[in-house]
Amino acid sequence: MRFLIINGPNLNMLGIREPDIYGRQDYSALESFIRSCCEAEGIEAVLFQSNHEGAIVDAIQQSYGNTDGIVINPAAYTHTSVAILDALKAVAIPAVEVHLSDVSKRESFRQVSYAGMACVKSFIGLGFEGYRQAILFLKGYLQTREAYTTAQP
Ligand code: DQA
Repeated sequence: MRFLIINGPNLNMLGIREPDIYGRQDYSALESFIRSCCEAEGIEAVLFQSNHEGAIVDAIQQSYGNTDGIVINPAAYTHTSVAILDALKAVAIPAVEVHLSDVSKRESFRQVSYAGMACVKSFIGLGFEGYRQAILFLKGYLQTREAYTTAQP
């Protein structure tokens, strides 16, 4: 199983950026955490971080045909990007949304998630743990789907 894990703008500033909201661990700690979660589950992890909307769209498009699942924290593009929503719908790879902070308790402009409309589930406000939950959920989701598909006559 191969997962693409996408982190959007400013997540490379973790540890420096608003630590009371996003925590004190940096982006490389997040990468290590994600890699070890995937390794423990026997999942091949492809990690991608970008501050650019088009680069995220490109990464989603390039995953077509070679990726089983997508875990995505689109960061601020969550609340603005129809292009990322459309890319997720275009490739139709099962995707799970993650947010470190509890966006539901924050500003009104964070209450819409475009990317979330193309995701099978969202993990919000759990910090790094949200990525682990997303990886475990996606693995189970894909295994169930596979079992169901192969059981059909
Ligand atoms: C975020 C929440 C977004 O609203 C914000 O723009 C981010 C990070 C999170 O992980 O909590 O950059 O996606």
